[in-house]
Amino acid sequence: MESFANTPDPRLRELLTHLVRHLHAFVRDTEPTIGEWQRAIEFLTATGHQCDDERQEFILLSDVLGISMLVETINHRKTAGATESTVLGPFHVVTSPRRDLGDTIDLVGSGTPCVVEGRVLSAGGTPLPGAVLDVWQASDQGFYDVQQPDVQPRGNGRGLFTAGEDGAFWFRTVVPCHYPIPTDGPVGTLLGATKRHGYRPAHIHFIVTAPGHHELTTHIFVAGSPYIESDTVFAVKKSLITEFTPVDDPEQAARYGLTGPFCRATFDIVLLPAAEG
Ligand code: BEZ
Ligand code: FE
Repeated sequence: MESFANTPDPRLRELLTHLVRHLHAFVRDTEPTIGEWQRAIEFLTATGHQCDDERQEFILLSDVLGISMLVETINHRKTAGATESTVLGPFHVVTSPRRDLGDTIDLVGSGTPCVVEGRVLSAGGTPLPGAVLDVWQASDQGFYDVQQPDVQPRGNGRGLFTAGEDGAFWFRTVVPCHYPIPTDGPVGTLLGATKRHGYRPAHIHFIVTAPGHHELTTHIFVAGSPYIESDTVFAVKKSLITEFTPVDDPEQAARYGLTGPFCRATFDIVLLPAAEG
């Protein structure tokens, strides 16, 4: 720890000093054999080799160890009436196509049609017209477009929307499905060795921005989805669980440009003013 005493940046000095203290404590507690330490290095090396522009195995590792969620929670303790945040995840890797309110983000056409609507508000209730919502989700088969470049068109399940005058937004999609995180790499090996499942409950991702407000990274989770109580990346917060209510009413369907039964999810997004938090 003393070897870092001359680090000019005090925060870097603090981080490294604590890292060494905790890593040494881990090694003293567990007394790994040379072979075990070598295996750990091989695991981290393989994790690095699994990363490219569209696959981030280190984020995935941080996710399944609960570190991403812990960092997220520590950094957003003061929500003061604002929508709670949750993990970014590794699939926000391509720019979402700009879409108009009411457009569909489903370019495939299978799955249960669904309307997602709500308003973007400032904590305190003022609507935020012009707020930008970046949305992404897996297909009804449980895969993101970047995982299936030969099956899904690029941009399927993604959209960049601008909220209307009253802060309102709405878009069409399909009801998302629960899905396994990628388990064909070192993180999958870890889950297998520990007999953990690798599933996430069904959800839709959002990054929401508005001038003068903190950016919000969150999801809405489908109420009643399998794995809602045991998300493999520990990212569920109760306030984010949303009813996807079935609607079987041709008149209502027509209002949204739909023809058959669909599900409707309503979720207001409340941003924290930049001066707070
Ligand atoms: C996701 O929801 O996209 C995700 C989050 C963490 C790990 C894997 C996937
Ligand atoms: Fe996801």
